[in-house]
Amino acid sequence: MLNRWCSILVLVALLFGLLPSPAGAVKSYLFKTCNDSGFCHRNRHFASEVAKIGSDFESRYSINSQDLSIKKDKGLVEGSLLKRLNDGSHVSLPFQISVLSDLNLRLKVNEERTGFNSKALNSKRYDEASKWAFTQEPDLTTFDYSLSDDTLVLTYGEYQAIVNLTQFKIEILYKGTLRITMNDRNLLNMEHYRTKEQQEAENSIHIAPEESTYNAYSDSFKDSKKDKLPFGPESVALDFTFSGYKHVYGIPEHADSLSLKDTTDSEPYRLFNVDIFEYETQSKYPMYGSIPFMIAVSPESSAGIFWINSADTYVDIRKEESNIEEETDQQVLSSKDNLEKVETHWMSENGIIDVVLIVKNNPQSVSQSYGKLTGFTTLPNMFSLGYHQCRWNYNDELDVLDISSKFDEHQIPYDTIWLDIEYTDEKKYFTWKKELFPDHDRMLAKLDETGRNLVAIIDPHLKTHYEVSEQVEKLDVGIKNHNADEIYKGHCWPGESVWIDTLNPESQPFWNKQFENGSEFAGYARNLHIWNDMNEPSVFNGPETTSPKDNIHYGNWEHRSVHNLYGLTYHEATYEAMIQRNPDIRPFILTRSFYSGSQRTSAMWTGDNMAKWEYLKESIPQILTMNVVGFQFAGADVAGFFGNPDKELLTRWYQAGIWYPFFRGHAHIDSRRREPWIAGEPYTSIMRDALRFRYKLLPVLYTQFYQSSLDGSPIMRPLSYETPENTKTYSIDDQFFFDQLLVKPVTSPGQDKVSIYIPDSKPYYNLNTLEKIVGEGYHEIEAPLESIPILIKSGSVIPIKARYRRSSRLMTFDPYTLFVTMDDSAKAKGYLYIDDGESFNHSLDQDFVYIEFEAGDNEIKSSIIDGDATKTFTSKLADVKVERIVLIGGPIVPPKTVDVVQGDKNWTAEVLPADGFWTIRNPGVIINQDWKISLAS
Ligand code: NOJ
Repeated sequence: MLNRWCSILVLVALLFGLLPSPAGAVKSYLFKTCNDSGFCHRNRHFASEVAKIGSDFESRYSINSQDLSIKKDKGLVEGSLLKRLNDGSHVSLPFQISVLSDLNLRLKVNEERTGFNSKALNSKRYDEASKWAFTQEPDLTTFDYSLSDDTLVLTYGEYQAIVNLTQFKIEILYKGTLRITMNDRNLLNMEHYRTKEQQEAENSIHIAPEESTYNAYSDSFKDSKKDKLPFGPESVALDFTFSGYKHVYGIPEHADSLSLKDTTDSEPYRLFNVDIFEYETQSKYPMYGSIPFMIAVSPESSAGIFWINSADTYVDIRKEESNIEEETDQQVLSSKDNLEKVETHWMSENGIIDVVLIVKNNPQSVSQSYGKLTGFTTLPNMFSLGYHQCRWNYNDELDVLDISSKFDEHQIPYDTIWLDIEYTDEKKYFTWKKELFPDHDRMLAKLDETGRNLVAIIDPHLKTHYEVSEQVEKLDVGIKNHNADEIYKGHCWPGESVWIDTLNPESQPFWNKQFENGSEFAGYARNLHIWNDMNEPSVFNGPETTSPKDNIHYGNWEHRSVHNLYGLTYHEATYEAMIQRNPDIRPFILTRSFYSGSQRTSAMWTGDNMAKWEYLKESIPQILTMNVVGFQFAGADVAGFFGNPDKELLTRWYQAGIWYPFFRGHAHIDSRRREPWIAGEPYTSIMRDALRFRYKLLPVLYTQFYQSSLDGSPIMRPLSYETPENTKTYSIDDQFFFDQLLVKPVTSPGQDKVSIYIPDSKPYYNLNTLEKIVGEGYHEIEAPLESIPILIKSGSVIPIKARYRRSSRLMTFDPYTLFVTMDDSAKAKGYLYIDDGESFNHSLDQDFVYIEFEAGDNEIKSSIIDGDATKTFTSKLADVKVERIVLIGGPIVPPKTVDVVQGDKNWTAEVLPADGFWTIRNPGVIINQDWKISLAS
C-alpha cells in the first residue's frame, strides 16, 4: 500500500516539479528576485536616483499646514501629506501620527483612491493588517507640542518626535539622543493611483524623473504573467535610519545569520510567505512566514520598527563598511560616540503605510513593547513542550502504537506522535483512511493511557468533489479567482483543490463543525491536536508556488494585500475551532506559515531543512531570530527533513534540539526511519540522555514560557539580550542562554571541544565537570559526543524534575531537585511556575503558583509570589516535595545538617558533601508553601 502512495507522490511531484534537484539546491528560478519584482525594482531604482542627486534632492512630500489638526489630549495628529506631482499639483494623502500608551510613535498614511471602479474589488488600500496583528487597537496617550512654520515637535515621556513639515521627515529622540529617523534619505514613495493612460501620456505629471515605470501594469516574470495588476503601481516605501546602532535583528523568516547583513550588493531580505522547496542556508530568500519587525541593539538603548503591512515586502539594509568587521576595543569605545548607523529601506507592493517606532532602554523592553501590541506567546499545553515524534508518515494504527511502545522499551520519554498527510483518504482532510486507521478513537485512547497525544495534519487546500470542499463552494467561503465570480481552483497534494478563505467570518462556524466532538475526523478524543501545514498558501501550480496575487478574499481584497497574513488567519481559525471543541484544553497548533500575532495561538517550525550539518548550525540563528520577534514557540525538524543523517549528525542534532522551544523529530517520506533506537549504541544511549535531559528541564522551560507569556522575553536568548552592554556578543549566534544556562551545541562533525564565549565577569560552572570558569572571553571546553557543552551562570536556582517517566503528564506530581549555584557574593535566585499544564484555570481561577527561590545570607528560601496554592490543582501540590537541593559554589566546608522551617514546623535535614558541590538530601519541604533552610553550620 505504501508503495502505491509513494508512486502517486512521485507522480504528483513530477507533475509539479517538486522532486529534489540533483544538486539539492533551492529552485531559485521559481522565485522572484528584487529585479523581477516590479515594485521592488522601481523602489530600488528610485533609491539610487535619489542618492545620485544627494543633498540637493527635494522631497516631494510635505505636510499640509492648512488642515493639520493636533489633538494633544487624544495623542493624535491628523492631516494630509501632500505629494507633489511634476506640474506642481498635489495628491493629498491622509495621515495620522499617534503616540501609543507605551510611548511608541505610530504613523499611518493612506490614499483615498478615486476613479477606480470594479464590482469585484474593494477600491480602498488594504488597511486591516493591524487588525490581525494586534490584540486590540492600542490606547493613545497625551503629548505636549510646539509648532513653527516648518517643524512640529511632540514631547512625551523622555521622548521627542521632531516632524519636519516642509520636507517630510520624523526624528525620534530618546533621552535627548537621536535614535530613529524616518524618511532620512527621502525614500518615501507612495505610488498614487493613476491609470495606465495617465501614466503613459506624453509629459505625464505622474512619473517623477527619479521614478521608473518598470512592470507597473503587467508582470513579466514567467509564472506571474497572468497577474492583472488591476490598480497598476501602488507600492509604499519608506526609509528609516537607526542612529547609534551597528546591529539589527529580526524580520523573519530567512535562513540567515542572527545579525542581519548589509544588502547593498545583494538581494534585499524578502518577506513573502512561500513554500520554499529545499531552501538554502545563509540566504535572504523568503520563507514560509513573515514578521515585519526589526530590532536594533546598542549598549545605551534599543529600537524597533514594526512595519504593519501584509503584502510582498523587501527590506534593504545598509551599514558602514567598518560595521561589518568584528569590533575591536577601539571601536567599542567609539560606539559611545554615537557615530554608527544602520539604514533600512522598506518596500511593500501595496497597502498603506502603517508603522510603529519603538525606542527603549534595552532589547528586552523593545520585545515587551512589541508584545503588548501583538500579544504574547500563550502558555502552551505542557505536553507540547515534551518531545514530538513525527515522520511522513507513520503508516497505520499498528505502526503508531508500535513506535509508541518502542519508546517505552528503550526508556526514552516522548509525549506526542504525529500523522502526516497519508492518514487521510486520498488527502481529503477530515477523513481517515479506514483500512489503515479503522478506529482512531481507540488508537487515541491507547496513547492516552501513557499520557501521550496525537497531532494530525489539516491543510487549507481541500480536494475538489468531496463533501468538505463542496460545502466550501456552496457556502461561498473559499478564496475566489480574479473576477470573484468563482472559487479559485489550483493544485496541491490532493490534486485539484479549493482553499478555505479564513478571512471570511463565515468560514469559522463551518471550520468549527469539521473539528466538532463526534465528527468523522475528531471523534471524542481529548488528546488530539492539529498541524496546519502548506498555509502560505502553497499552490503547486501557482506563481512562486503560491496563490495568484489577483485572487480575491472576503471583503473584496486582493490576495496581493493579505498574502503574508493568510497563514495566520488559517491557524487562528483552527485554534478557535479546537477551543470550541473543548474549551477546557489549551489547543496545540503547529503552523508553517505565520505573521505578527501568530505567537498568540500557535507554534512554528522552520520547514523543510536538510539532514546536513549546515542546517543544524542554521537552526540556531533561525530560532533565535523568532525568539527576538516575540515568537518563542519555535523549532526545526530534527535531524533534517530531507535526506538521511549519519549517526553523528543525528546524535548532535538531538543534543541541539532539546533546546528548541518546540522539539520535534521529523523526516521526509523518502528518508529512512531514524527513531532514536535505530542508530544503536552508543548513539541511542546518548540520544536517550539528551531527551531525558529535556524532560528534566521541563519545569525550567515551562517557567520560561510563563514569563514570556507576561513580557515577551525570548526563551532561546541571544547573548546580546543577556548582556547588551557587551558589543562583542552582537554577532554571536552559535550559542545562547536558556534560562541561566549558557549553551553551545556542537554543530560540526568530528568535534570534541568547543570554544564558548562568556559575555560577563561572573563565574560560570561547566555542567559536565562542575569546573568553575571565570572571565569574559572564549574558553575551551571538552565536548565529546556524549556531552553537550553547557555552563551554568552563577547566581541561579534551577528547578528540575530528575526522575524518568514515559511522558510529561506522568511527571505532574514528581518531586523537584533544585540546583543552586552561588555567585561571588554567595547569592542566587530563580523561579518556578506550576499549574495543571493543560486547562485555562491558571488564568480563569488563579489556579497556579509562581515561586521565587532566593539564596543568600546563609539561607535558601522559597516564597510563593503569585497565584493561589489553595485551588483545585495547586492544593494537590501539597504532596509534591523538593527531594534534593544541590549547592554549587556554596561554603567550602558544608554543615553536617541544615535547619528547615516550613509553616509552623521545623526539622533538620542531612547534608552530603561531594567534590565541588554538596547536597541537602530530602529536605522534606513541600512545593506549594513558603519555606526556609538555614545553611549556617
Ligand atoms: C511539507 C511540510 O513542510 C513537511 O513537514 C510535510 O511532511 C509535508 N508537507 C507533507 O505533509
